[in-house]
Amino acid sequence: MWPKNCWYIAGFAQEVGQKLLARKLLNQAVILWRTAENKLVAMEDRCPHRLVPLSMGELVEDQVQCGYHGLRFNAQGACTHVPGQDNLPKAAQVKLFRVVERHALVWIWLGAAELADESLIPDMHWLDAPGWTPTTGYHHMKADYRLLTDNLLDLSHETYVHRETIGNSAVADSPVVTSVEGGLIVRAHREMPNIDPPPFFSLMLNHTGKINRWQIAVFMPPGMNMTDVGAHPVGTDREKAAIFRVLHLLTPETEHSTHYFWAVCRNFRLDDAPLGEGLKKAIIHTFDEDQRILEVQDRCLQEEGMPSIPQAAVKVDIAPVQGRRLLNDVIKREQENPSAVIRPLLMADDAKVAQPPAMAAE
Ligand code: FES
Ligand SMILES: [Fe+2]
Repeated sequence: MWPKNCWYIAGFAQEVGQKLLARKLLNQAVILWRTAENKLVAMEDRCPHRLVPLSMGELVEDQVQCGYHGLRFNAQGACTHVPGQDNLPKAAQVKLFRVVERHALVWIWLGAAELADESLIPDMHWLDAPGWTPTTGYHHMKADYRLLTDNLLDLSHETYVHRETIGNSAVADSPVVTSVEGGLIVRAHREMPNIDPPPFFSLMLNHTGKINRWQIAVFMPPGMNMTDVGAHPVGTDREKAAIFRVLHLLTPETEHSTHYFWAVCRNFRLDDAPLGEGLKKAIIHTFDEDQRILEVQDRCLQEEGMPSIPQAAVKVDIAPVQGRRLLNDVIKREQENPSAVIRPLLMADDAKVAQPPAMAAE
């Protein structure tokens, strides 16, 4: 279950070049490529002749040549060449999808074509704005994308799942304050003052003494998640904290698999390449730990025939439950009104980055 009238991420911009990239998005088989003039193209990965995936063919003279009988299609999806004949069948037209490159990402619109509006692309400027250095990566998860959001909105699991990297007992022991904003954003905020640093934070801060740490999990449907992470040694200014904006950008592949595009954007040691490499290793390790749990969880839910989460709710479920509610609301809105679109809100405000965010009432 997912809404369609919104922008999804099809890939990182650097992944798409002058060769065919096949990707299934929302159960839709798509190929992505760039023309010689650097124009992005997204089309259905099906040849209109005999429905063979066009991704089994190749780019020839800036056109897609099917790997079965050699029909060619241009960037507009029109057939330009049929081997052995001069006339071109009009019905041989490949379906196109709107794609836009923004913030180093390729965004695709798979909903009603007439509703595609670039002003509806969520703001992810931390990927290419001055003052931030991103470290990016990708995990293919064999799990429902909603399980990933549940996981990201309840970070108490760091204590148990990520004890080798970002977790220790302080996470699960610290209370969370949850708020819902504009009917579209859930924020779950946890402050962890005067705690021992988990291994990842010792490495980042080059410090083994006590630290003050915070984390704010932010979710916006259908699959935009961010963790706003701050940490600084006790006795130093919060304004000087090391800040990470961790983007977890989810595009469902199928009901039980997800493209997980992630980026850890930092506001400190911007040009420190070895730090970026260490960070990448640590994050891959961390998200591998989530993957292990989430794939097993998805399988168990399927075995038990449960379409959703079991309802043995505990306090840390508040934010995930609110997130599911918002997601269900946008899906319902689209079902009732096929022209409804998701109009994104700002997920984090850089101007407030160093200030303690207001603790809203639970
Ligand atoms: S299936 Fe593509 S050319 Fe025949
Ligand atoms: Fe995790």
